[in-house]
Amino acid sequence: MALTAPQQSQLVVPTGGFTPYPEVPQPNIFPMEWRVETPKLAELYERSKRQVWNPADFPWETLRPEDFTEQQRLGIMYWYAVLANFDGSGPAVFAKATIHAFETHQEDPIRKCFFSITRDEMNHEEVCQRAIQKLVPGGPMDFEATSDLAKAAQNNIGWLYHNGGRYWTGYSASLAKYPLSVLFTSFLMGEVASSTLFFGMSKKATHPVFKELFKRVGQDEARHLAICLTVLEKDWPGLSDEYKHLITKQLRAGFVFLSMILWEPPSQFWEIPEYFLPNHRVLVQHARDAGLGVLTYDEQADNWRTALARVRAIVGEWGIAFPAIPELDLDGVDVSDIGPEDIIPVF
Ligand SMILES: [Fe+2]
Ligand SMILES: [Fe+2]
Repeated sequence: MALTAPQQSQLVVPTGGFTPYPEVPQPNIFPMEWRVETPKLAELYERSKRQVWNPADFPWETLRPEDFTEQQRLGIMYWYAVLANFDGSGPAVFAKATIHAFETHQEDPIRKCFFSITRDEMNHEEVCQRAIQKLVPGGPMDFEATSDLAKAAQNNIGWLYHNGGRYWTGYSASLAKYPLSVLFTSFLMGEVASSTLFFGMSKKATHPVFKELFKRVGQDEARHLAICLTVLEKDWPGLSDEYKHLITKQLRAGFVFLSMILWEPPSQFWEIPEYFLPNHRVLVQHARDAGLGVLTYDEQADNWRTALARVRAIVGEWGIAFPAIPELDLDGVDVSDIGPEDIIPVF
């Protein structure tokens, strides 16, 4: 039987009117819409597309394992494995946040900015992957550790990822619980921390590959920070006191969590054995000696203090109290109970 294309030139207008369509139960990504409330966010999304870069195009062949001692290779691998606890979780964190933004019908540029951060974080994650694989194939977990240093590195990383896992469970539950402004305050901590970290390291690194990598990643992080600030400027007015308290607590949680990569972890939240920190220091020192650009303990403390003072000034404008950070001589509200459910910040 030959097929005949249906002929239709007449519009159907039912005499009793169109049938009302069912409302989509929410939260749901439907109905589709492209509302723009904050043109600045749309601009930032455009910028993210123009500044895109490819970690695979880096001259990785100039990062030669034989240019480093065994200890230095382990040190760099270890540092990137620590970084991956933060930067490596970025794609999953922001992918979830992107879906959440769709489901709660945030304006279009917010969804797109989240997506761009997911994209960027995937690049940052790839950097961790490539640096680790180049210097310690199979690292960070799946290589045969023969020396004590290698065993110490592997064990520390295992403990670190145990804590990362605790944070992931908390984060997953928090998405539906808090308004976007609360989540974004945590992101803000992460972005301030990461832009500070990578800017400092790009200046200090002596190996050209690391120098250039930190520059690129730092540029992305600065854009993420701009996205966060723009969203918060819009969402912070009208924040209830209850949420303001919650934010104060989360700022302290951000400090506790991010100090692992920015400086040294305080004795709160982290479940780590006693030997963790001494071994961490030894491994990071090897990375430092290798020209990775890891700042000294004092330089890190200064940088972190300056970055936190910046966050304190920003949140202060919106009447949000800053937590006490006695570790860095910053006074504020006492926040002593930090659990995995409080940890949201990422890079
Ligand atoms: Fe970021
Ligand atoms: Fe990142």
